[in-house]
Amino acid sequence: MTTRRDFITAGAAMGVLAATHGSATTTSTAKAGPCLADCDIMELNQRIIRRDFRGITKDMLPTPCLIIDLDAFHHNINQMATTAKANKINVRPHVKVHKSLAVAKAQRDAGAIGLTCSTIAEAELFSDAGFKGMMFTKQPVGRNNTQRAIALSKKDPTFMFVCDDNQVFDWVEEAAAAHHARVRVLVSVYAGLARQGMQGGQPAVELAKRIDGSKHMKFEGFMAYSGAVHTKTFEARRKASYESLAGARESRDLALKAGLPVNIMSGGATGTYNIDHEVGLTELQAGTYCFMDTAYFTIGGRDGDMERYNDFKPALTVLTTMDSQYHPNLISSDYGAKAMAGRGDIVRDMPWLKVGNGGAEYGALTWKDGEKFPKIGDRLEIYPSSLDMSTNAYDRYYVAQGDKIVDVWPIMGRSGAAQR
Ligand SMILES: Cc1ncc(COP(=O)(O)O)c(C=O)c1O
Repeated sequence: MTTRRDFITAGAAMGVLAATHGSATTTSTAKAGPCLADCDIMELNQRIIRRDFRGITKDMLPTPCLIIDLDAFHHNINQMATTAKANKINVRPHVKVHKSLAVAKAQRDAGAIGLTCSTIAEAELFSDAGFKGMMFTKQPVGRNNTQRAIALSKKDPTFMFVCDDNQVFDWVEEAAAAHHARVRVLVSVYAGLARQGMQGGQPAVELAKRIDGSKHMKFEGFMAYSGAVHTKTFEARRKASYESLAGARESRDLALKAGLPVNIMSGGATGTYNIDHEVGLTELQAGTYCFMDTAYFTIGGRDGDMERYNDFKPALTVLTTMDSQYHPNLISSDYGAKAMAGRGDIVRDMPWLKVGNGGAEYGALTWKDGEKFPKIGDRLEIYPSSLDMSTNAYDRYYVAQGDKIVDVWPIMGRSGAAQR
């Protein structure tokens, strides 16, 4: 799915290829042919650059590392696309959970109308890679972000961002005028999360009118990201979603009454993807569905299974090596704080093990007497509890079918603020 050029371009831009093991990109000592069991990391990196994955299996990979189960991933992309199509709602998937061109391409191939971004850097990166229709879901504040949002709007007129504050409107208006730009703006309305979004109804419509009246702006509609997306049980989530979007629906109705066009009602997530078309949204910003994380495992789907949300399959794991065992009921691993080990993580095939962390580079798995436990040298795969956090800590995905590695996808724009 990723071409050699994509990988090298994205990898080089982020320093990906040399990131874990020094100067692997500059020396060329690798021999052609399948990787042997004792394949060294230099050869592995050379093989990845050449996109020659023959003979590479999970046991050769450096740990901790991220693994995508390709079949589960395709199932998830397809599930979202077919459900959204049936429900007549657009999908503008959130990239913050994957930061990957290959994933975004799969989403676009499946019908996504654009991408949702949580930082201006994400929008710039995907724009540079040729993607269109990016929506930045935070308002640009400060000289740096404002000018970047204006510059991107000029470079790509399909780019849009939100605003929830009259002061920010003034700043954006001034900057857009100074740069002779016309920017596309949605009003962000509060929907149950105390972090962004102005009061729906009249205040939101007043701002919408100001945007619509500006010759430097085009009013696109409303965004409302609901706080209900992880609510347990399908029916409770449906009710909570409907209620949390009340302000957004009121804003839409008042705006239409005032003669404003409302092209977009954006929001939604993995947990409400088959509900959001009923609560007033025209498009979905869902992100996690592509890989899934354990925060979604027990929310309960339409099928009523509270043990596992079955709509989407867990497609991302962290592969880790058990590397020290001296204490009862505890084994150490290389999946520690820097690898984003979290208490909510779940060990694949051994879900009774408790995941803790024993330091920056030390993970700790514990168990109760009588439970089956891993041995030193074993490699386990762990489902992360927060995709956003895990993705941000790694430079690449190893893409697997069974034990075979069939591709490697770089992760862009991580960690440092300017590029994140
Ligand atoms: C503004 C916004 N939109 C969309 C999403 C995507 O939600 P999910 O990853 O749960 O599908 C998030 C996730 O936190 C978000 O913050």
